[in-house]
Amino acid sequence: MASKTHYAFLLLLAVMASLFAGSDAGVYHIVGAGKGWRMAPNKTYYEEWAETRNISIGDKLMFLYRSGVYNIVEVPTKELFDVCSMKNITNRWQNGPTIIELNQSGPRYYFCGVGKHCEEGQKLAINVSAFAPTPPDAPSSSSATAISAGDLLLLYLAGLAAAMCVASASSLLL
Ligand SMILES: *[C@@H]1O[C@H](CO)[C@@H](O)[C@H](O)[C@H]1NC(C)=O
Ligand SMILES: *[C@@H]1O[C@H](CO)[C@@H](O)[C@H](O)[C@H]1NC(C)=O
Ligand SMILES: *[C@@H]1O[C@H](CO)[C@@H](O)[C@H](O)[C@H]1NC(C)=O
Ligand SMILES: *[C@@H]1O[C@H](CO)[C@@H](O)[C@H](O)[C@H]1NC(C)=O
Ligand SMILES: *[C@@H]1O[C@H](CO)[C@@H](O)[C@H](O)[C@H]1NC(C)=O
Repeated sequence: MASKTHYAFLLLLAVMASLFAGSDAGVYHIVGAGKGWRMAPNKTYYEEWAETRNISIGDKLMFLYRSGVYNIVEVPTKELFDVCSMKNITNRWQNGPTIIELNQSGPRYYFCGVGKHCEEGQKLAINVSAFAPTPPDAPSSSSATAISAGDLLLLYLAGLAAAMCVASASSLLL
């Protein structure tokens, strides 16, 4: 119960962060979609997720995960990534949810540094392109924050779940 409530708060925070995280242009990508950042159901899960995405400079990766259970490390090369090596970590995040702004083009390599999670497929390689492929035909201005339709639905569902859990825990809060 306590951990469920905790997770709901993480989701709520992520939703709020996504809605209020400033006015930069850029698309939020919820890593792993509905599964979030966790032990992958199979070794290509995050690879398959990445293949459905066009990720460009200014976009943000949103990792939804339980602190202490999962983390994120970044390594500089495909060689290190392929063998899940933590020898040359360039970044580490361990307090979920984590939003990483992609401010450089080129490949990026992330994986979970806990246990054998990386070997089991909790790893994500992306290519950040220098420019967005095509401007979305949404009526938003260039200063508006864009969230893809699929992610919007996820955020809505996450918010709903969070609201329900928060409501059920409201006696603790009031
Ligand atoms: C991996 O898991 C996802 C989600 O369950 C599924 O859609 C995908 O087909 C699986 N891929 C393989 C190679 O099994
Ligand atoms: C780690 O980084 C150092 C300094 O950048 C480099 O000399 C070394 O070759 C790297 N090791 C691996 C295994 O990539
Ligand atoms: C780009 O991102 C890195 C790490 O995410 C950060 O250290 C750096 O300050 C950022 N650069 C700019 C210009 O925002
Ligand atoms: C990124 O792009 C380069 C060159 O286009 C390609 O060789 C590499 O496989 C790509 N990496 C990923 C993770 O898609
Ligand atoms: C990625 O960009 C290409 C080129 O504009 C486009 O054809 C493709 O549909 C886009 N894929 C996604 C998932 O948005």
